[in-house]
Amino acid sequence: MTKPKLLITRKLRPVVEKRAARDYDVVLNHDDTVFSSEELISACRKVDAVLPCHSEHFSAEVIEAIGPGLKIIANHSVGTDHVDLAAAKAAGVVVTNTPDVLSDATAEIAMLCMLGAARRGAEGDAMVRSGQWTFWSPAFMVGRQVTAKRFGILGMGRVGQVAADRARGFGMEIHYHNRSRLPAHLEKGAIFHNTLESLLGCSDVLSLHCPVTVDNAGIISARTLALLPDRAIVVNTARGALIDEEALVAALTSGKLFAAGLDVFRVEPVGNPALAALPNVFLLPHIGSATEETRDAMGMRALDNLDVFFAGEDPGDRVA
Ligand code: DGY
Repeated sequence: MTKPKLLITRKLRPVVEKRAARDYDVVLNHDDTVFSSEELISACRKVDAVLPCHSEHFSAEVIEAIGPGLKIIANHSVGTDHVDLAAAKAAGVVVTNTPDVLSDATAEIAMLCMLGAARRGAEGDAMVRSGQWTFWSPAFMVGRQVTAKRFGILGMGRVGQVAADRARGFGMEIHYHNRSRLPAHLEKGAIFHNTLESLLGCSDVLSLHCPVTVDNAGIISARTLALLPDRAIVVNTARGALIDEEALVAALTSGKLFAAGLDVFRVEPVGNPALAALPNVFLLPHIGSATEETRDAMGMRALDNLDVFFAGEDPGDRVA
């Protein structure tokens, strides 16, 4: 039987590429070069399936230009904001993602961002690394302790729930806002807020764990930042577009916020130079799911979705 033709847009873990090559007529990107829109369109026209990352953008125009040959976009990501789902649906292209398998890794990065921000990790690292650590005093590099503080979660989905568990380990009180309240066995005593405004008012640390949509882009703005307790900490391991970065810079500069820990930005790669210039920001380059275990699991999950699709069934992780 002829194997379906599969394009894998970025370099994946060897075990994943090996399985893909066994089961598909696979086109790999050995050099891990980033596709332009034109290159993406041209490469996708030649295959039945594509396994992309969030770095490839499938806008309505791109999907239309690819045409009818492409049957499935099996994402190597839980986020699907890089794909116009309505356009894919209208074009009859199935779209899947990789939920669950990256929740632990992403929640770990949220903790790193929280602690890096609260304990001035970026400043301390830069000082020691640059040879400028020439002084010590009890008044030196004093940060904020998270123990017994309130951890506010926007988006209590899979990642948010694991982040809550990790924050409980630091003795934090968990608050959350979500479209709907969780059942008690998932809530585990966390305090539900039925409005964002109510959550913000009691978030000593605000951690974002919701997908970005047209409705919530820029939800963390000058108005909503003002509702946080003074000297709060903002953590974002979800998507950069959730935050108005100019407003965040202003809140960090004025002292309204103590610090921020950010793994994601509006412009990626690169980030935001105005944020990078501030000492009270702990920065990472979108590595929330970048562990060996999780990258393997994401690749396998994307391949599982393809296998189910090409067996003529509906993949469990179908989002369009
Ligand atoms: C995701 O899975 O959405 C992560 O951000 C990595 O792409």
